[in-house]
Amino acid sequence: MSELAKVAQAMVARGKGILAADESTGTIEKRFKSIAVDSTEENRRAYRDLLFTTRGLGEHISGVILYDETLRQKSADGTPFAELLSRQGILPGIKVDAGTADLAFCPGEKVTEGLDKLAKRVQEYVKLGAKFAKWRAVITIGKDIPSTTCIAANAHALGRYAAICLAHGLAPIVEPEVLMDGDHAIERCEEVTEWTLNAVYEALYVNRVTLEETVLKPSMVIAGKDCARQASVAEVAERTVRVLKRCVPAAVAGIAFLSGGQSDEQATANLDSMNRIFTGRLPWPLTFSYGRALQQPSLKAWKGAAANVAQAQALLAHRARMNGLAAMGEYRPDLEKKAA
Ligand code: 13P
Repeated sequence: MSELAKVAQAMVARGKGILAADESTGTIEKRFKSIAVDSTEENRRAYRDLLFTTRGLGEHISGVILYDETLRQKSADGTPFAELLSRQGILPGIKVDAGTADLAFCPGEKVTEGLDKLAKRVQEYVKLGAKFAKWRAVITIGKDIPSTTCIAANAHALGRYAAICLAHGLAPIVEPEVLMDGDHAIERCEEVTEWTLNAVYEALYVNRVTLEETVLKPSMVIAGKDCARQASVAEVAERTVRVLKRCVPAAVAGIAFLSGGQSDEQATANLDSMNRIFTGRLPWPLTFSYGRALQQPSLKAWKGAAANVAQAQALLAHRARMNGLAAMGEYRPDLEKKAA
């Protein structure tokens, strides 16, 4: 097996998932604002230090996605974050996209940027210790959208990104996110997700991507957050897995969902349900690659104060354990109460 295929498999190892801590400077500023903390470089470093020095993090976390600035930062004792993670058996990863921009002639739609000079940047990230990469494409559901233009542009960029990463030594996470913003029904989300995934796998094929060396990071099939009818956990599980089975080749190393604005416990319960219902019947492991759903309780507890670090770390360890169980279909909501 190739080294990159081994990395991809390690990212989705049984009972483990990925911590997305790759918020761009703009996004982390928003998160910090919610706890009234200034987004200075030192505060961003201190917060990531808190996350990455959580005792036992490697038990349920296989990899951490970092942002460019974070990959260059160090823990309080001077250890570079990439090394700190590696020592715990956690793979350091890197967000390599440059965020989204308006898609010309497609009102309300976005395309992800960052392909220019990507090969050079990947080579540098490999030297800094990164093992895998992430690129997030965003598909918006609304009146008359997504357009064919938007799906094609974003799928093309994902294909080019994945090929460049593989050519230069990083295992790519392929992330097409269908946003849960809006009042659309779950059926519409299912249809758009199927369309998107088919386009993405066609683009990966055209770009000569070895699927065994990739991990898919999809959104779940879920009703828009303003839709009156919210689906049950079992319905989300059934519809999500149905689409994945139709569109994702069995060769893909694994599937690690994003949380996308679901509450932390909802994201855990949905993942658990898929693994419970379909255990032993799927060609790929299903796990998590959560940002907000792993970090939210810790962020709120931290509030920028050193005195709150231990409590914030305990909360992260708890969410990592709950999601580790969900990745095996062994989560139970009463475990949340016991911990509280
Ligand atoms: P969320 O789980 O908060 O959606 O973040 C995951 C991520 O990496 C988005 O790109």
